[in-house]
Amino acid sequence: MALITKKPRGTEDLLPRDSYRWQFMEKLFHEEARAFGYQEIRTPVFEHTELFERGVGGTTDVVQKEMYTFVTKGGDSITLRPEGTAGAARAFLEHGLHNDPLPIKVFYFSSCYRYEKPQAGRLREFHQFGMECYGTQNPAADAELITAASNIFERMGLKNIRLEINSIGCPKCRAEYHKALTEYFSQYKDDLCEDCRDRLERNPMRLLDCKVPHDHEIAKGAPTVLDYLCDECREHFDSVKGYLDANGVAYTVNPTIVRGLDYYTKTVFEFISDDIGAQSTICGGGRYDGLIEELGGNPMPALGFATGLERLLMTLDAQGIEIPEPDPCDIYIGSMGEDAHKKAGALVNTLRKAGLYAEYDVVGRGLKAQMKYANKLGARFSMVLGDDEIANGTAKLKHMDSGEQREISLDGDEFIREFTAAKIEEEFKE
Ligand code: HAM
Repeated sequence: MALITKKPRGTEDLLPRDSYRWQFMEKLFHEEARAFGYQEIRTPVFEHTELFERGVGGTTDVVQKEMYTFVTKGGDSITLRPEGTAGAARAFLEHGLHNDPLPIKVFYFSSCYRYEKPQAGRLREFHQFGMECYGTQNPAADAELITAASNIFERMGLKNIRLEINSIGCPKCRAEYHKALTEYFSQYKDDLCEDCRDRLERNPMRLLDCKVPHDHEIAKGAPTVLDYLCDECREHFDSVKGYLDANGVAYTVNPTIVRGLDYYTKTVFEFISDDIGAQSTICGGGRYDGLIEELGGNPMPALGFATGLERLLMTLDAQGIEIPEPDPCDIYIGSMGEDAHKKAGALVNTLRKAGLYAEYDVVGRGLKAQMKYANKLGARFSMVLGDDEIANGTAKLKHMDSGEQREISLDGDEFIREFTAAKIEEEFKE
């Protein structure tokens, strides 16, 4: 039987040597979420297909072309989540989270699945960090959310990140805009792709988001939504900009941003990096005041964003930003002979209980090979135990870089105290 050694197209393995890079981002997200009062939510990887059809929208590329949908043995249609907003909104409703004091603020790390053509920065399984906020229509909340994303990228040390914002209005002003779009695109009806001809009838705004190059060209001449905003939406947008200015978050207004998902209302935004090629949007989001109602709840304004972790990492790499490597092994305790080996194991365990990273031989290597391994681990300190050390109750603690040695007691409490002192002393020197 052939060995199965190839992962499915558009997926990536995270190898042990790289996991610290993800942990760096995750730690930063956790800290930022806490600073903004967001709590974690975890929802299933799969949901009922209808959730995404209704939530994300039946005329979007995501729903029409990209979903991983299958029928279960029980006959249900299930879809791997293509994004995190719909699942979080479903959980919000199912568990009556609106009964808690508003606003409700949640964040998530989610693997997402979209059957797209893989290329740099575009995967079929990818990962998002997202923040969602429910229960406020206030423009200060839009600015706060955008500021949270901006702070994250700033703390990561990212440069040359552009923030582009737009308002796509509410159902009230959108009716007029739809009319204008339908009129405009109807002139080109015969030139449009088949999907867009259908979208022209069902949801003309989706034509602005078509990835077919010819349609994209036609879309460039379309009326812009900002010219059709009602007074309320215009005031809301002006106010969001005012709060962003007050927060010192730089942005440009890009009236062509409409986003690829149907639930958005009013504010939409994207963060773009010019350092990672065609798939340059590292973060996208906006307000979605109609989604909760669309899914069967009472009206509940909401807003959020998600950032793609793979694209973020690509940007960090492209900009030469170094991610701090994990601390190396604190100490390797080598040993010769059975008694010494047991003592080494006991000391290592004492160190580990104290929260230190300590290793000893569990492979059966000779002493020379043990010390070679200690070098490979980059251990800060090492120590060798043999019959003499066990008999004396002391050993030589060696600082690996400088070669400096000092006597250390092998008595449990004494040992920890003296080792910690040596470690602090060396860190101080560094
Ligand atoms: P989205 O723009 O579809 O929005 O995706 C958000 C981010 O996920 C993108 O900016 C990108 O960084 C990353 N991403 C999307 N597709 C892929 C892919 N195929 N491969 C790699 N990365 C990808 C949403 O998903 C919304 N749920 C965001 C949101 C949250 N809006 C409100 N709340």
